[in-house]
Amino acid sequence: MQINRYKKMINVIISGAPGCGKGTQSALMIEKYQLIHFSTGELLRKEIAEKTELGLEADKYISKGNLVPDEMIIDVLTKAIKQLNGNCPGIIFDGFPRTVKQAEELETLMNELQKPTTLLIDLQVPNRELINRLLTRGETSGRSDDNLETIKKRLDVYEVKTAPVNDYYRQLNKYAAVDGVGTVEEIFGRIVELLNR
Ligand code: AP5
Ligand code: MG
Repeated sequence: MQINRYKKMINVIISGAPGCGKGTQSALMIEKYQLIHFSTGELLRKEIAEKTELGLEADKYISKGNLVPDEMIIDVLTKAIKQLNGNCPGIIFDGFPRTVKQAEELETLMNELQKPTTLLIDLQVPNRELINRLLTRGETSGRSDDNLETIKKRLDVYEVKTAPVNDYYRQLNKYAAVDGVGTVEEIFGRIVELLNR
Protein backbone atom coordinates (compact mmCIF):
# COMPACT_ATOMS: atom_id res chain seq x y z
CA MET A 1 0.00 0.00 0.00
CA GLN A 2 1.21 3.47 -0.85
CA ILE A 3 1.81 5.61 2.21
CA ASN A 4 0.36 9.11 2.30
CA ARG A 5 2.84 11.95 2.07
CA TYR A 6 2.43 12.92 5.72
CA LYS A 7 4.07 9.69 6.94
CA LYS A 8 1.75 9.93 9.93
CA MET A 9 -1.92 9.26 10.31
CA ILE A 10 -4.33 11.91 9.14
CA ASN A 11 -7.63 11.42 10.85
CA VAL A 12 -10.06 13.81 9.24
CA ILE A 13 -13.65 14.50 10.18
CA ILE A 14 -15.75 15.61 7.25
CA SER A 15 -18.78 17.42 8.55
CA GLY A 16 -21.59 19.62 7.36
CA ALA A 17 -25.33 19.53 6.79
CA PRO A 18 -27.13 16.72 4.94
CA GLY A 19 -26.25 16.84 1.24
CA CYS A 20 -23.20 19.10 1.64
CA GLY A 21 -20.99 16.54 -0.16
CA LYS A 22 -19.41 14.55 2.68
CA GLY A 23 -19.68 11.23 0.85
CA THR A 24 -18.60 12.69 -2.51
CA GLN A 25 -15.51 14.39 -1.10
CA SER A 26 -14.65 11.38 1.10
CA ALA A 27 -14.40 9.21 -2.01
CA LEU A 28 -11.82 11.60 -3.52
CA MET A 29 -9.82 11.86 -0.28
CA ILE A 30 -9.71 8.06 0.04
CA GLU A 31 -8.28 7.79 -3.45
CA LYS A 32 -5.66 10.50 -2.94
CA TYR A 33 -4.57 9.72 0.62
CA GLN A 34 -5.45 5.99 0.92
CA LEU A 35 -7.59 6.66 3.96
CA ILE A 36 -10.14 4.33 5.49
CA HIS A 37 -13.72 5.53 5.25
CA PHE A 38 -15.86 5.45 8.37
CA SER A 39 -19.37 6.59 7.48
CA THR A 40 -21.95 5.95 10.17
CA GLY A 41 -24.73 6.68 7.66
CA GLU A 42 -23.43 4.02 5.26
CA LEU A 43 -22.88 1.50 8.05
CA LEU A 44 -26.46 2.04 9.21
CA ARG A 45 -27.85 1.79 5.66
CA LYS A 46 -26.02 -1.52 5.26
CA GLU A 47 -27.68 -2.79 8.43
CA ILE A 48 -31.05 -1.58 7.10
CA ALA A 49 -30.52 -3.35 3.76
CA GLU A 50 -29.62 -6.56 5.60
CA LYS A 51 -32.67 -6.11 7.85
CA THR A 52 -30.65 -6.70 11.00
CA GLU A 53 -32.13 -5.86 14.39
CA LEU A 54 -29.87 -2.77 14.57
CA GLY A 55 -30.91 -1.74 11.04
CA LEU A 56 -34.63 -2.07 11.73
CA GLU A 57 -34.28 -0.07 14.92
CA ALA A 58 -32.09 2.60 13.26
CA ASP A 59 -34.48 3.09 10.33
CA LYS A 60 -37.20 4.21 12.74
CA TYR A 61 -35.03 7.27 13.46
CA ILE A 62 -33.46 7.75 10.02
CA SER A 63 -36.72 7.72 8.03
CA LYS A 64 -38.05 10.50 10.27
CA GLY A 65 -34.88 12.60 9.93
CA ASN A 66 -33.82 12.11 13.55
CA LEU A 67 -30.40 11.01 14.76
CA VAL A 68 -30.09 7.46 16.05
CA PRO A 69 -29.23 7.35 19.77
CA ASP A 70 -25.60 8.07 20.68
CA GLU A 71 -25.14 4.70 22.42
CA MET A 72 -25.97 2.80 19.23
CA ILE A 73 -23.44 4.79 17.21
CA ILE A 74 -20.67 4.69 19.78
CA ASP A 75 -20.87 0.88 19.89
CA VAL A 76 -20.54 0.75 16.11
CA LEU A 77 -17.59 3.16 16.19
CA THR A 78 -15.63 1.47 18.96
CA LYS A 79 -15.93 -1.91 17.25
CA ALA A 80 -14.85 -0.55 13.87
CA ILE A 81 -11.86 1.48 15.12
CA LYS A 82 -10.44 -1.28 17.28
CA GLN A 83 -10.44 -3.61 14.28
CA LEU A 84 -8.25 -1.24 12.27
CA ASN A 85 -4.76 -2.37 11.53
CA GLY A 86 -1.99 -0.22 12.98
CA ASN A 87 -0.48 0.68 9.60
CA CYS A 88 -3.56 2.42 8.29
CA PRO A 89 -2.58 5.88 6.91
CA GLY A 90 -5.63 7.46 8.46
CA ILE A 91 -9.37 7.57 8.76
CA ILE A 92 -12.09 9.79 7.35
CA PHE A 93 -15.00 10.16 9.71
CA ASP A 94 -17.99 10.99 7.51
CA GLY A 95 -21.15 12.09 9.27
CA PHE A 96 -19.64 11.37 12.65
CA PRO A 97 -19.45 12.86 15.28
CA ARG A 98 -22.91 14.35 15.07
CA THR A 99 -23.39 15.37 18.69
CA VAL A 100 -21.01 16.88 21.25
CA LYS A 101 -21.31 13.63 23.22
CA GLN A 102 -20.09 11.66 20.19
CA ALA A 103 -17.24 14.15 19.71
CA GLU A 104 -16.13 13.70 23.30
CA GLU A 105 -16.23 9.90 22.93
CA LEU A 106 -14.27 10.05 19.67
CA GLU A 107 -11.58 12.32 21.13
CA THR A 108 -11.18 10.08 24.18
CA LEU A 109 -10.95 6.92 22.09
CA MET A 110 -8.52 8.30 19.50
CA ASN A 111 -6.27 9.85 22.15
CA GLU A 112 -6.23 6.56 24.08
CA LEU A 113 -5.23 4.75 20.90
CA GLN A 114 -2.60 7.45 20.20
CA LYS A 115 -4.30 8.19 16.89
CA PRO A 116 -5.48 11.76 17.53
CA THR A 117 -7.89 13.47 15.16
CA THR A 118 -6.21 15.98 12.84
CA LEU A 119 -8.96 18.31 11.66
CA LEU A 120 -12.70 18.79 11.24
CA ILE A 121 -13.63 20.08 7.79
CA ASP A 122 -16.98 21.86 7.77
CA LEU A 123 -18.38 21.86 4.22
CA GLN A 124 -20.64 24.89 3.99
CA VAL A 125 -23.56 24.92 1.55
CA PRO A 126 -26.74 27.06 1.72
CA ASN A 127 -29.95 25.21 2.63
CA ARG A 128 -31.66 25.87 -0.69
CA GLU A 129 -28.89 24.10 -2.57
CA LEU A 130 -28.86 21.24 -0.05
CA ILE A 131 -32.58 20.68 -0.56
CA ASN A 132 -32.18 20.70 -4.36
CA ARG A 133 -29.31 18.22 -4.24
CA LEU A 134 -31.15 15.83 -1.94
CA LEU A 135 -34.46 16.00 -3.81
CA THR A 136 -32.61 15.24 -7.05
CA ARG A 137 -30.81 12.32 -5.44
CA GLY A 138 -34.11 11.14 -3.91
CA GLU A 139 -35.47 10.47 -7.41
CA THR A 140 -33.17 7.44 -7.63
CA SER A 141 -31.48 6.80 -4.26
CA GLY A 142 -34.21 4.78 -2.57
CA ARG A 143 -33.12 6.36 0.73
CA SER A 144 -35.98 6.58 3.22
CA ASP A 145 -34.82 10.09 4.21
CA ASP A 146 -34.53 11.75 0.77
CA ASN A 147 -38.01 13.32 0.68
CA LEU A 148 -38.87 16.97 1.34
CA GLU A 149 -40.43 16.53 4.77
CA THR A 150 -37.55 14.42 6.10
CA ILE A 151 -34.90 16.62 4.45
CA LYS A 152 -36.30 19.67 6.30
CA LYS A 153 -36.25 17.75 9.57
CA ARG A 154 -32.64 16.63 8.93
CA LEU A 155 -31.61 20.25 8.36
CA ASP A 156 -33.27 21.32 11.62
CA VAL A 157 -31.66 18.47 13.55
CA TYR A 158 -28.31 19.44 12.05
CA GLU A 159 -28.60 23.01 13.37
CA VAL A 160 -29.63 21.97 16.87
CA LYS A 161 -27.54 18.86 17.50
CA THR A 162 -24.61 18.82 15.07
CA ALA A 163 -23.62 22.48 14.52
CA PRO A 164 -22.38 22.67 18.18
CA VAL A 165 -19.76 20.03 17.27
CA ASN A 166 -18.09 22.74 15.16
CA ASP A 167 -17.62 24.90 18.26
CA TYR A 168 -16.19 21.92 20.12
CA TYR A 169 -13.49 21.49 17.45
CA ARG A 170 -12.93 25.26 17.22
CA GLN A 171 -11.96 25.16 20.88
CA LEU A 172 -9.51 22.34 20.13
CA ASN A 173 -8.04 24.44 17.29
CA LYS A 174 -8.97 21.69 14.85
CA TYR A 175 -11.74 23.40 12.88
CA ALA A 176 -11.69 24.55 9.25
CA ALA A 177 -14.61 25.79 7.16
CA VAL A 178 -14.59 25.04 3.43
CA ASP A 179 -16.92 26.55 0.83
CA GLY A 180 -18.93 23.55 -0.39
CA VAL A 181 -20.44 25.27 -3.43
CA GLY A 182 -18.90 24.77 -6.85
CA THR A 183 -17.91 21.75 -8.88
CA VAL A 184 -16.87 18.59 -7.05
CA GLU A 185 -13.30 19.12 -8.30
CA GLU A 186 -13.15 22.76 -7.18
CA ILE A 187 -14.27 21.79 -3.69
CA PHE A 188 -11.79 18.93 -3.56
CA GLY A 189 -9.05 21.41 -4.55
CA ARG A 190 -9.95 23.52 -1.51
CA ILE A 191 -9.75 20.47 0.77
CA VAL A 192 -6.38 19.35 -0.62
CA GLU A 193 -4.98 22.85 -0.14
CA LEU A 194 -6.09 22.74 3.47
CA LEU A 195 -4.63 19.29 4.14
CA ASN A 196 -1.34 20.23 2.49
CA ARG A 197 -0.82 23.15 4.85
P1 AP5 B 1 -25.73 10.30 6.58
O1 AP5 B 1 -25.68 9.13 5.73
O2 AP5 B 1 -24.50 10.79 7.22
O3 AP5 B 1 -26.44 11.42 5.75
P2 AP5 B 1 -26.45 13.01 5.78
O4 AP5 B 1 -25.58 13.68 6.74
O5 AP5 B 1 -27.90 13.35 5.86
O6 AP5 B 1 -25.82 13.38 4.44
P3 AP5 B 1 -25.90 12.68 3.04
O7 AP5 B 1 -25.20 11.39 3.06
O8 AP5 B 1 -27.31 12.70 2.55
O9 AP5 B 1 -25.11 13.77 2.19
P4 AP5 B 1 -23.55 14.00 2.06
O10 AP5 B 1 -23.15 15.19 2.84
O11 AP5 B 1 -22.79 12.73 2.23
O12 AP5 B 1 -23.51 14.44 0.54
P5 AP5 B 1 -23.30 13.57 -0.77
O13 AP5 B 1 -21.88 13.51 -1.13
O14 AP5 B 1 -24.06 12.30 -0.66
O15 AP5 B 1 -26.81 10.05 7.75
C1 AP5 B 1 -28.12 9.60 7.44
C2 AP5 B 1 -28.90 9.39 8.73
O16 AP5 B 1 -28.27 8.35 9.49
C3 AP5 B 1 -28.92 10.59 9.69
O17 AP5 B 1 -29.98 11.49 9.39
C4 AP5 B 1 -29.14 9.87 11.03
O18 AP5 B 1 -30.46 9.49 11.20
C5 AP5 B 1 -28.30 8.62 10.87
N1 AP5 B 1 -26.91 8.83 11.35
C6 AP5 B 1 -25.78 8.78 10.59
N2 AP5 B 1 -24.69 9.02 11.33
C7 AP5 B 1 -25.15 9.24 12.59
C8 AP5 B 1 -24.51 9.57 13.81
N3 AP5 B 1 -23.18 9.72 13.86
N4 AP5 B 1 -25.28 9.74 14.91
C9 AP5 B 1 -26.62 9.58 14.86
N5 AP5 B 1 -27.30 9.28 13.73
C10 AP5 B 1 -26.57 9.11 12.61
O19 AP5 B 1 -23.99 14.54 -1.83
C11 AP5 B 1 -25.40 14.74 -1.82
C12 AP5 B 1 -25.91 14.83 -3.28
O20 AP5 B 1 -25.35 16.01 -3.86
C13 AP5 B 1 -25.44 13.66 -4.16
O21 AP5 B 1 -26.45 13.35 -5.06
C14 AP5 B 1 -24.20 14.23 -4.88
O22 AP5 B 1 -24.00 13.64 -6.12
C15 AP5 B 1 -24.56 15.70 -4.99
N6 AP5 B 1 -23.37 16.57 -4.94
C16 AP5 B 1 -22.23 16.39 -4.22
N7 AP5 B 1 -21.37 17.41 -4.40
C17 AP5 B 1 -21.99 18.26 -5.26
C18 AP5 B 1 -21.60 19.52 -5.82
N8 AP5 B 1 -20.42 20.07 -5.56
N9 AP5 B 1 -22.47 20.14 -6.64
C19 AP5 B 1 -23.69 19.57 -6.93
N10 AP5 B 1 -24.10 18.38 -6.43
C20 AP5 B 1 -23.26 17.74 -5.60
MG1 MG C 1 -23.26 10.81 2.98
